[in-house]
Amino acid sequence: MAHALVLGATGHIGAHVVRALLAEGHEVRAAYRRERYLSVLEGLSLERLRVDFEAPDGLRAALEGCDWVFHAAGYYPPCTERRERAIALGVESTRRLLSQIRRANPQRLLFTSSAATIRRVESRPSTEEDAQPWPSNEGQPLYTTVKVAMEREVLRAHREEGLPVVILNPSVCLGEYDAHAFSGRAILAFAKHRLPFYLGHGFNAVYTGDVGVGHVRAAQQGRLGERYLLTCRNIQVKAFAELVARAAGVPPPRWQLPDAAASLAAGVSEVVAWVTRRPPLLPRQVVHTARRGQYLDGGKALRELSLPQTPLEEAIARALAWFRQHHYL
Ligand SMILES: NC(=O)c1ccc[n+]([C@@H]2O[C@H](COP(=O)([O-])OP(=O)(O)OC[C@H]3O[C@@H](n4cnc5c(N)ncnc54)[C@H](OP(=O)(O)O)[C@@H]3O)[C@@H](O)[C@H]2O)c1
Repeated sequence: MAHALVLGATGHIGAHVVRALLAEGHEVRAAYRRERYLSVLEGLSLERLRVDFEAPDGLRAALEGCDWVFHAAGYYPPCTERRERAIALGVESTRRLLSQIRRANPQRLLFTSSAATIRRVESRPSTEEDAQPWPSNEGQPLYTTVKVAMEREVLRAHREEGLPVVILNPSVCLGEYDAHAFSGRAILAFAKHRLPFYLGHGFNAVYTGDVGVGHVRAAQQGRLGERYLLTCRNIQVKAFAELVARAAGVPPPRWQLPDAAASLAAGVSEVVAWVTRRPPLLPRQVVHTARRGQYLDGGKALRELSLPQTPLEEAIARALAWFRQHHYL
């Protein structure tokens, strides 16, 4: 049995990592920031601890006596942030965290990054071998650039300071406990029939419960300094929208939005978001990524971590049930 600290335990991925750890009998310390999201941990037998990442020593108490540290609370650049500033914030926050973690000397750091840091390859689904070089091209979405910069810090700490780290790169995560509704926004938009169109690309999606299990297996048997794509099914947006619409009992979207119209719609949606102070329905980053699409090959995690592969239909059903129960729908 290990003592595990989960940073970002009230997040979508963190909440599943916590459950995967508890299911195996590990002791869990759940680090959270805002109390309003603590409800995703309701009824679980674990230690809850508030942390402040900005304070120079804000993680000291949380890190005490931990064998494994799961960092699922990475910086998410808001779409309105300037590129250079967003990169600097991502790098600074990662460095600050790594230096505290290094001092605590855990057996393993499991760093949750994103499949967005993997390059698209024309001829085949991308693998871990296709990790973006640094600096990533100017044409990349802000999210990708910031995540690549953060990963670079983590890999540097592994190489130069011997930090025992494994990087996890989940694709789009779908499932319960998505209180922040970031990746769940797409499910909600199609389930509410708010997006009458779809984009003409493909992507990879995975059940978040499997991503949680993948994190725990990476702590047990992942190779240090390696990255693992945590993925499941490659699917076209049209087919995905139809699955969600069928599960929600609403009509599927009928039209494919051409790229230029999608960019325009995203621009408008971000202006509306800025005025209303609510997240954009169609962020430009999503359109930017969508235009290229990306299929992934997660064979390495299947072979080395025996990553479970829950069908996407079930992931969508679970997400919808949770959103309904918590009045998002
Ligand atoms: N969801 C996906 O589809 C997906 C896919 C691939 C990769 N990822 C990556 O995985 C990570 C986790 O994603 P997620 O979807 O689980 O995010 P999420 O649902 O938004 O949760 C983020 C968690 O991190 C905490 N957090 C963020 N900044 C913090 C800070 N400065 N101090 C303390 N706590 C902080 C949040 O606390 P509060 O509850 O207070 O907000 C929350 O618990 C991110 O790095 C994301 O880029 C996500």
